[in-house]
Amino acid sequence: MEQKKAKLVLEDGTSFDLPIIEGTMGKPAIDISNLSQNGFVTYDPGFMSTASCDSAITYIDGENSTLLYRGYPIEQLAENCDFLDVSYLLLNGELPNQNEKNSYVSEVKKHYLLHDQLNSVFRGFRRDAHPMAVMQAVVASKSAFYFEEMNVYNRNHRKLSANRLIAKVPSIAAWSYLYNLGRPFNYPRSDLGYAANFLNMLFSSPTQPYEINPILVKAFEKILILHADHEQNASTSTVRLVGSSGANPFACVAAGIASLWGPAHGGANEATLKMLQEIKNESRINEYIERAKDKTDSFRLMGFGHRVYRNKDPRAEIMRKTCHEVLSELGLENDSIFKLALKLEKIALEDDYFVEKKLYPNVDFYSGIVMRAMGIPNSMFTAVFALARTAGWIAHWNEMFLGENLKIGRPRQIYQGKRFRNLSQDRNVSKD
Ligand code: SDX
Repeated sequence: MEQKKAKLVLEDGTSFDLPIIEGTMGKPAIDISNLSQNGFVTYDPGFMSTASCDSAITYIDGENSTLLYRGYPIEQLAENCDFLDVSYLLLNGELPNQNEKNSYVSEVKKHYLLHDQLNSVFRGFRRDAHPMAVMQAVVASKSAFYFEEMNVYNRNHRKLSANRLIAKVPSIAAWSYLYNLGRPFNYPRSDLGYAANFLNMLFSSPTQPYEINPILVKAFEKILILHADHEQNASTSTVRLVGSSGANPFACVAAGIASLWGPAHGGANEATLKMLQEIKNESRINEYIERAKDKTDSFRLMGFGHRVYRNKDPRAEIMRKTCHEVLSELGLENDSIFKLALKLEKIALEDDYFVEKKLYPNVDFYSGIVMRAMGIPNSMFTAVFALARTAGWIAHWNEMFLGENLKIGRPRQIYQGKRFRNLSQDRNVSKD
C-alpha cells in the first residue's frame, strides 16, 4: 500500500512531502523528523500535538473515555486482575498464565528487601521531609548499589532492574512515611500479596499488628492498577527522555518521581483533598467554582481537567465506585468530604465553563478521598501514585530499547535571544 503523505506548501510555493504514519488506533501522525534538513523546525510547547515515540503499551481515546493497557479496557483489568498481573502485562505485553504469574511473584518477592545501609539515607532527612522527596532520593541511591547487571542494552539486566524496582518501591514508599512518624521500619512480608504487604508495612507497628481487610486490599489493588500507566504523560516522558541517554533505570525512575510530584500532575490528588478540606462545606462550593473560572485568579479546580480526556476520565468513574465501597466497608457512608466531592462534581458538570472546556473529574479527584478513608495521609497520596506508576515507567523505559536505533531525546528551540554581538565593542575591552 502506497505510503500516505502530507504536503507542506509555503507561501513562495516551496513544498515538502511529509510521510503520514498510522498506528493501530488513534490519530495518524505527520512525520516531521527530517523537516530540519529543509531548514525548518516545528514548534509545539507542551507537546499539545506532538508524538514523541511509538508505543504499544497504553492507548487513550480522550473523546470516548477509553483507556487500554495492552488493548485491555481499564474497567476489565481493575475488576479481574491484581496489580502484579497488570505490571507483568505492561512490561511483557500479555497477562501471565498461572505458571508465569507464580514465577513473577516469587521473583518480585525475592527482591523485596532493601539494602540495610539505605537506613542511613532515610535518616539523613528531617523528620518532616515530604515522602516524595525521600522516595526520589532513595530510589536514585539504588544506582549506587548495583554495578553489575546494569547494562541497559541487555534484556536480562533490564528485566532484573524492572523486578528490583517493582519489588522495592513499596518499602521505599512505606518507610518514607514511617520515617515521618518516627516509627520503626516494617519489613516486607513474602506471605502477603503486593497491596496487602504495602498496607501492612504502612500501618502495622510492633505493638499493634495491622489487621488485613480483604475489601480494602482489593480496593488498594484497584487504586494501583488505575494509576499504573497513562501513555506519554509528563513523568513517563521524563523517564523516557532520561533513559534515552542510557542512564540507569533507578535514575530514570527517580526523575519520573520528581516530575510526578508537581500539583499539575500526580501531586493533584494531595492538592484536591487540601482543596476539599479548605472548601469545607457545600455553601462555599460556588465561591471556588467562580475562582476556578476567574482568569485573574491562579486557582484551578484540582482533580478536574485533563490534556487528553475531553470527556470523563474512566479511572475517575471506577475510583468513585471504589470510594463508595471503601467508605461503606468502613461505615463512613456519610463522610462529609466525599459528599462534598459528589456535590462539587455535580455543580461543576452543570456549569457552562466546565462543559464548554470539557473539564471533567480526573483520576486524582476521588483517589485522595479513598486513601484518606483507608488511613493514608495526604502527604502519601502522590507516593502511592509513584508506587503504582513505577510499573508504567519501567515498561516504557524497557520499550525504548526494543525498537531500532534508540536516539537520545534532544528537542530543538526557537531562539528569541540577542543577535550575534561583540564583547570588545560592548565593554570597550582594552586590547593590551
Ligand atoms: C494527572 O497526562 C496525564 O495522563 C496525567 C495523568 C496520568 O495518569 O499520568 O492523567 C495524571 O496528572 C491528571 C491531572 C491532574 N491535575 C489536576 O487535576 C490539576 C488541575 N488540572 C489542570 O491543571 C489542567 O486541567 C491539566 C494540567 C490537567 C491539563 O492542562 P492542559 O491540558 O494544559 O489544559 P489547559 O491548561 O490548556 O486548559 C485549557 C483551558 C484553560 O482555559 P483557557 O486558557 O482556554 O481559557 O481549561 C482551563 C484552563 O484555564 N482549565 C481549568 C482547569 N483545567 C483546565 N480551569 C479551571 N480548573 C481546572 N482544573
